[in-house]
Amino acid sequence: MKRNRILIIHGPNLNLLGIREKEVYGSMSIDELNNEIRRFAKEEGVDIDILQSNHEGELVDTIHGARGKFDAIVINPAAYTHTSIAIRDAIASVGIPTIEVHLSNIYSREPFRHHSYIAEVAVGQVSGFGTDSYLLGIKGSLNHLERHNR
Ligand code: DQA
Repeated sequence: MKRNRILIIHGPNLNLLGIREKEVYGSMSIDELNNEIRRFAKEEGVDIDILQSNHEGELVDTIHGARGKFDAIVINPAAYTHTSIAIRDAIASVGIPTIEVHLSNIYSREPFRHHSYIAEVAVGQVSGFGTDSYLLGIKGSLNHLERHNR
């Protein structure tokens, strides 16, 4: 059976995990988070690539580059969640099932975080479970692929 390929994308400032606003995002570094993601992906038998960028255009290019290479995308668009029509349009353009994830619960925070430009084009959203948001996002995307590839 063909192995699924999932692209994991971290948006801006997530390179500073473990340093930035620890009371909101916890003390785990991005390397530790990525190791946890890799461990889970191995357990689930899925191939993954992970990318972090602080640049909107690079995130758009990365999403475009996923065409034909990945079956699903799990993205934490970080602050671009609340501002980026370009990332929203990129996801809509490539037509790859995309799950939006957030470490924090964006709905229990400042009002400007309550709106996501990405949610409308995503299969679903996982928000507020810390590292588990990514793992639940991966699991959700695998279940989605299984349902839709039957
Ligand atoms: C975040 C939530 C966003 O509002 C914020 O700008 C981030 C991280 C999260 O993972 O909780 O940078 O996406």
